[in-house]
Amino acid sequence: MEFMEKVKKCGIVPVVVIENVEDAVPTAKALLGGGICFMEITFRTACAADAISQVAKEVPDMVVGAGTILNKEQAEKAVKAGASFIVSPGLSEEVVTWCIENKIPVVPGCVTPSEIMKAKALGLSVVKFFPAQVYGGMKAIKALSAVFRDMLFLPTGGVNADNLGEFAKEKCIAAIGGSWVCTGKDISAHEFTKIENLSREAVEIIAEARK
Ligand code: 3PG
Repeated sequence: MEFMEKVKKCGIVPVVVIENVEDAVPTAKALLGGGICFMEITFRTACAADAISQVAKEVPDMVVGAGTILNKEQAEKAVKAGASFIVSPGLSEEVVTWCIENKIPVVPGCVTPSEIMKAKALGLSVVKFFPAQVYGGMKAIKALSAVFRDMLFLPTGGVNADNLGEFAKEKCIAAIGGSWVCTGKDISAHEFTKIENLSREAVEIIAEARK
């Protein structure tokens, strides 16, 4: 199945911040146990590339990508480590172009019509909408979607179990991103059963909302 189709089917891409590399594999397994087969490990910590590498090697059913990618060098490093997709908080032409040239799925952050136009011109059909709640949430995405009818959005930032359904039920939403299923606090405390349960709950909310 094509990457974006698989993302749409799964409906959620957790944003994961790994502070200690040994937490990466158990976190991936907990997400997977709850029914989530995507994770975005953010390039915000020193061990991010190693964390991606371990998940890619040890949890083959997990599709691991890199998030918070700010430049081409980070994208290269992440993909070399085993990242199979790239997410950026904003639209970097060099990152998007490098990913397209190397056939790596890429989801840049776009919150304005001009950014979405640029993403479209680069050939993209899915963009991240970050920070979603600050930039107007589903109301803003609907207004943008009315104009950019073939663009799909990945809202991230302020999405959680309480408002997840509002996003998931809309056709213009490819998937939802967020950290609530595996917060830094829960990962550090090794609350892997909790992470698995929150993942399962999120998957159920998405399935219900899409009915
Ligand atoms: C991030 O990049 O940190 C994400 O957007 C997560 O946002 P959240 O913590 O509000 O889910």
